[in-house]
Amino acid sequence: MEFQKSTVYQIYPKSFADANGDGVGDLKGITQKLDYIHQLGADYIWITPFFRSPQRDNGYDIADYRAIEPMYGTMADFEALVQKADALGIGVMLDMVFNHTSTEHEWFQKALAGDETYQNYYIFRDGSPDVPPTNWQSKFGGSAWAYVPHLKKWYLHLFDTTQADLNWENPVVREELKDVLRFWKAKGVKGFRFDVINLISKPDVLEDDLTGDGRRFYTDGPRIHKYLKELHRDAGLGDVLTVGEMSSTSLENCIRYTDPQEEELNMTFSFHHLKVDYRDGEKWKLQPVDYRKLKDLLETWQTGMAEHGGWNALFWCNHDQPRTVARFGDTRQHWRAAAKMLATLMYLMRGTPYIYQGEELGMKNAGFTAIDQYRDVESLNYYRILTQEQGLSSEEALHILAERSRDNGRTPMQWTAEPGAGFSTATPWIGLSVDSAGICAETQVNDPDSIFTYFQQLIALRKAEPVVGNGTIEFLFSQREDIFAYRRTGQGQELVVLCNLTGQSISGDFVPLVQDMQRQLGNYPDVKELAQNQLRPYESVVYLREVSPAQLE
Ligand code: GLC
Repeated sequence: MEFQKSTVYQIYPKSFADANGDGVGDLKGITQKLDYIHQLGADYIWITPFFRSPQRDNGYDIADYRAIEPMYGTMADFEALVQKADALGIGVMLDMVFNHTSTEHEWFQKALAGDETYQNYYIFRDGSPDVPPTNWQSKFGGSAWAYVPHLKKWYLHLFDTTQADLNWENPVVREELKDVLRFWKAKGVKGFRFDVINLISKPDVLEDDLTGDGRRFYTDGPRIHKYLKELHRDAGLGDVLTVGEMSSTSLENCIRYTDPQEEELNMTFSFHHLKVDYRDGEKWKLQPVDYRKLKDLLETWQTGMAEHGGWNALFWCNHDQPRTVARFGDTRQHWRAAAKMLATLMYLMRGTPYIYQGEELGMKNAGFTAIDQYRDVESLNYYRILTQEQGLSSEEALHILAERSRDNGRTPMQWTAEPGAGFSTATPWIGLSVDSAGICAETQVNDPDSIFTYFQQLIALRKAEPVVGNGTIEFLFSQREDIFAYRRTGQGQELVVLCNLTGQSISGDFVPLVQDMQRQLGNYPDVKELAQNQLRPYESVVYLREVSPAQLE
């Protein structure tokens, strides 16, 4: 299936489905739920890391790229998963964490034991114990360097201290990683998501950052395009789907990463549109969503990528983000309409949709109120930094965590209305969302008005109507903050999408825009037409027509 027409469903295995009743999701659980994903209509599943790992960062700290973490199952379980997915026409995508390994990885252990060959797999620097080699900051808080007393050396970790950055300048490291890709491809894997892949290329000389936390030196670093081309060529990535997670990246670089002629990746995740509620650009400072900025960013990226042959991954949410409807919509009166509107807005643009588990049900944030409910390493680090270093009260810090913590997206998937939500028969490793009542797959799959059914229709529309996959995009009402609207054109079709971003009715010249067009979808199910130039609270509508080339002129 061409990736322009495809939809990817993201699974966070720890919280998806627990088949063996130990409170932790597993591979067998995923296999049991493949029919549900098939029913939704997704073409691929991206499973976040389930490789052997001490789980400091829930699997993003890999200790063995070729082995399965026992709590998730066995290699036979994985093979059974791929087999069933194949039978259903679903491609399995794996998450390759190649910027760093766990410090428990054999390579790092050999480095610690003094083996210079393996020290050269990582970024070690000599230095005195009290001054790190540079002032760079870890993305999880604190210095990006950790000292190893018996070696009298520091090693770089852009994330947790247990996630040591690999040295991509060492060609042997690059060969090792290509081999990992070949290993999983041979198991029938159909795609890869590359974790923070634009951070892998560090400069030759590492120096203090006098104006920032160091990221400007290694983000989209000096040899990044060379390394991606090399991976693509040597690991045969041309016949699988590839997406790169790009941290603090630029449009120019994402165009290069995804321009088919460059032969690097199919598409990229960029995060600028998910920072529009950060005060002063800081995640741990709250601010209401700036919809003006959100619109500008989405439009700039859509238009910029389209003009230069790039391709976006379209997404609102993942395992690192709060829940979409809670963040950009409404969790009370207009919950259902808002969840559908946000899906319409995002997933009919130019790009490939990535739907995060539970988003298709309108799942809400965790609603945790005590620090011991949190599990995420970043959240726990920042709770300490906010309360101990920045002087916030514990209430203030908990309030911020309730909005921003990555655990908001990591509460167990809500399958049924039973206690435990049908996720597990045991106490789950992390609590259910406090707001989980009334939201579950079981009731939504057969309800024609549910959020699930609406997602099904959106996914089907992308497959059925060529303009969704391959049309150009042009934005309407760009100057208005209350509406997000666009027209897609191409393949002998024209599609118009109108979305009310607010909880009030809004008016405008909407009817003329959709004249002579066929209504495809609307999130007010009993309403068959656009009210006279009005959009109801969070209303979204989609209209289509076939056009002859002459009409397009
Ligand atoms: C990515 C992952 C995140 C992880 C980090 C370090 O951003 O999505 O979950 O903590 O990389 O691997």
